[in-house]
Amino acid sequence: MSQIVTIPHVNDRRGNLGFVELGAPIDFSIKRVYYLYDVPGGAERGAHAHRELQQLIVAVSGSFEVELYDGFTRRSFHLNRAYEGLLVRPGSWRELRNFSSGAVCLVLASMEYDESDYIRDINEFERFVRQ
Ligand code: TYD
Repeated sequence: MSQIVTIPHVNDRRGNLGFVELGAPIDFSIKRVYYLYDVPGGAERGAHAHRELQQLIVAVSGSFEVELYDGFTRRSFHLNRAYEGLLVRPGSWRELRNFSSGAVCLVLASMEYDESDYIRDINEFERFVRQ
């Protein structure tokens, strides 16, 4: 199930350190890392789903919102802590918005980039999850 997970981290007077590895807090191997940065105010990203891709989305700096839609229910998550991540399972329509100035959205992904894994039409997505 898609959910917020706590990223293991060590707090230190010299600065804190978070770490992600297979086992905690993710149960998939990372094949790709990408990140969104310099997102202009008011911009929206996402608006698609994936057939198989799993992701951990982290606000490593600043904040933003992720709305997930499973074809029946919409849930909104506010990400603003570098030690929390949103685990997004396949079959989740996602919309990212309300990026703060300087926000960086880091995404750890289970697969290499593959456009054929995307569903970019919401009607097709609803058919996909309701079949
Ligand atoms: P997209 O996943 O649609 O962005 P978002 O969901 O954040 O709005 O990707 C935008 C463009 O970037 C698209 O043309 C594909 C390209 N892209 C890559 O080439 N490699 C990648 O790993 C990603 C995530 C996107």
